[in-house]
Amino acid sequence: MGDHDQPPRTNLHDGARRIGSGAAPTPAHEGWSIAYELNRTEADLAYRWLSQESYWASGLPRPVFDRAMANSLTVALKDPHGALRGIGRFITDRATFAYLCDVYLDPGCRGRGVGQWMMDQALAHPDLKDLRRIVLVTRDAHGFYAKFGFTSLTQPENFMHRHDPGIYRRLSQGT
Ligand SMILES: CC(C)(COP(=O)(O)OP(=O)(O)OC[C@H]1O[C@@H](n2cnc3c(N)ncnc32)[C@H](O)[C@@H]1OP(=O)(O)O)[C@@H](O)C(=O)NCCC(=O)NCCS
Repeated sequence: MGDHDQPPRTNLHDGARRIGSGAAPTPAHEGWSIAYELNRTEADLAYRWLSQESYWASGLPRPVFDRAMANSLTVALKDPHGALRGIGRFITDRATFAYLCDVYLDPGCRGRGVGQWMMDQALAHPDLKDLRRIVLVTRDAHGFYAKFGFTSLTQPENFMHRHDPGIYRRLSQGT
């Protein structure tokens, strides 16, 4: 599932990225890799992370998750054994704009720089690196995203949203 027209999986740290933290690759990232699709087993794990462990997608119905992943540029972080250790998702037209969401690392892998490495790789993706705007919402990870050039909105009064936080619950209940 996921993306069908992506560059091959790579272990390379792309030095040509324009947006990125500028962090140099370290031995901690050796053997780690990025893919742009999830197989069924990986999707099961990613679904558990988001629907049961994340603070923002609690109760996400599985069909909604599957459709979201299939229609996004999905990032999969793999450890040196090829196991899924993290995900991220860009909802994007691949030309002008993206909304970044569902960034989640296996708790056992946090705090070692691999989240930063994953974002560096993803933001260097050919379909993302020249976008005019990438937007995200975070409760407490501002310092993490600041490393890649994200800032608070300069004119928040110009942004609007339509928000329905109860939609997953109603979908699950069929109401
Ligand atoms: C947020 C997350 C993706 C970061 O990944 P990570 O691998 O733990 O982060 P790294 O080790 O690569 O950290 C890189 C830098 O970002 C900083 N950082 C990491 N998480 C941070 C956070 N939540 N807030 C502020 N800074 C953070 C680190 O301190 C480090 O800074 P330094 O290089 O100056 O020491 C990961 O911790 C995670 O999945 N958290 C739970 C889910 C979540 O909150 N996702 C984001 C939702 S918007």
